[in-house]
Amino acid sequence: MTRPASGNASGKGHYEKVLVLDLGAQYAQLIARRVREAHFYSEIVRGAIGADEVMSHNPSAIILSGGPASVYADDAVEVDAEILRLGVPVLGICYGHQVIAHALGGVVERTGSGEYGRTRLQLENPSLLFDGLPESHDVWMSHGDAVVKPPPGFRVTASTGSSPVAAMQDDENRLYGVQFHPEVHHSPRGQEVLKHFLHNAAGLMPSWTNASIIEESVEAVRTRVGGARAMCALSGGVDSSVAAALVHKAIGDQLTCVFVDHGLLRHEEAAEVIDTFAGHFDMRLIHVDAADRFLAALAGVEDPEEKRRIIGETFIRVFEEVAQGLEETSYLVQGTLYPDVIESGSGEAAKIKSHHNVGGLPEEMDFQLIEPLRDLFKDEVRAVGSELGLPEEIVWRQPFPGPGLAVRIIGEVTAERLEILRAADDIITDEIRKAGLERELWQYFGVLLGIRSVGVQGDGRTYAHPLVVRAVSSEDAMTADWARLPYPLLDRISARVINEVAGINRVALDISSKPPATIEWE
Ligand code: XMP
Repeated sequence: MTRPASGNASGKGHYEKVLVLDLGAQYAQLIARRVREAHFYSEIVRGAIGADEVMSHNPSAIILSGGPASVYADDAVEVDAEILRLGVPVLGICYGHQVIAHALGGVVERTGSGEYGRTRLQLENPSLLFDGLPESHDVWMSHGDAVVKPPPGFRVTASTGSSPVAAMQDDENRLYGVQFHPEVHHSPRGQEVLKHFLHNAAGLMPSWTNASIIEESVEAVRTRVGGARAMCALSGGVDSSVAAALVHKAIGDQLTCVFVDHGLLRHEEAAEVIDTFAGHFDMRLIHVDAADRFLAALAGVEDPEEKRRIIGETFIRVFEEVAQGLEETSYLVQGTLYPDVIESGSGEAAKIKSHHNVGGLPEEMDFQLIEPLRDLFKDEVRAVGSELGLPEEIVWRQPFPGPGLAVRIIGEVTAERLEILRAADDIITDEIRKAGLERELWQYFGVLLGIRSVGVQGDGRTYAHPLVVRAVSSEDAMTADWARLPYPLLDRISARVINEVAGINRVALDISSKPPATIEWE
């Protein structure tokens, strides 16, 4: 038995590549996403790589990201100045702008004041980057040091109150620098600046579209798999669903999807997955209804970690049993995304994040991995899913933990409690959707507490469970803020849950952010 071998099933051969050098700020991913939104293909690499390694990527344009350091700091990421002499167009952003100035003989100084937040940019001289933009407009700044003198061969194209060289360029060598952050929404014309760099200055053609992503991935999967068989563990979540749809488009019936229903899913979720994949897509789908087996394994268990362990282990056992019954299968499809594989962090400390296993699959299986979403960001995955014809409910599904509702029932998980939580959760979802908030929120759901409290309904005393409403906004689930839901909406949720769901007589609201709380309760 071996660990699964990883393989990239998407060939990026003919795309012009924009290489984003990560100089250590949190902005590199955002820059890469904005470049993709403009329909150019981008990849992120560590900022400390040398010019030779840069050239091995065959980039058509290079962007130096922002970074936390001063060019004079001991821990500053050192950029190989040869990168600026490769003849490839370069755009330096914020710290990247200062790196260009410093490396080529300009002057970077600690001005003492710095600029943070919204700042007025004044255009000084004509520049391809600012084509058609107002002489003066707002941009987003976040820097202490400033370029006060451009290197020889550069001319100043914009300034601000505290940055005499807020933008500069060397036309002959196609080197550009901007002190502000064009990639953030707070720079309203920033996306135009990025596009102008890529199209006008670097001469690239926008060709990275959903249709072309699908076409390429399908072709790559077909070539790789040939006549062999593949399987995919479907969870009903966005990533595994889009990966399955993409691979199915490529190899049709050579793909078998396995949907292990652990009975811990939300209202009608299992039926939706089956309707979509077996019905609409006519996919070979093995549906294992293992709800009883999971419930039996969870009987009497209250400890959160123990619940997770039991669910993970049961999942693996069920999956292995199914896999053994299948015809010879060489490939396993996984919905790994680009953020999972990006070299994270900055400078020498950078390391590649380990892949997460969809649904906690066995580590020791004799499969080669197909990861058709390996190059995509979440928003691209959603767009590809829509283009492939997946229903909105799946494409826009909120993140859902692998152990499902089991970690949203505090205390023992029983069939009765699952029914109660499912009904209440469905009301929350319904009301949030009616209020038009589902795309604004990262997650919204109910948590059923194992304790009971006294209430009065009709003429009688009740002694039933409280439900907690948990709704958060977040960018990436690493941090989250509790959502300020409107009072009338909370009122409707509370009234409906208490009136319509037997077993709940009280509704509470979770107003904790992450950290120090987590999004899920267990
Ligand atoms: P926490 O609760 O740690 O959750 O703030 C962060 C994000 O991860 C999701 N989550 C999980 N996802 N398996 C998953 O696939 C899990 O065991 C799991 N636990 C939490 C959670 O819903 C949130 O989006």
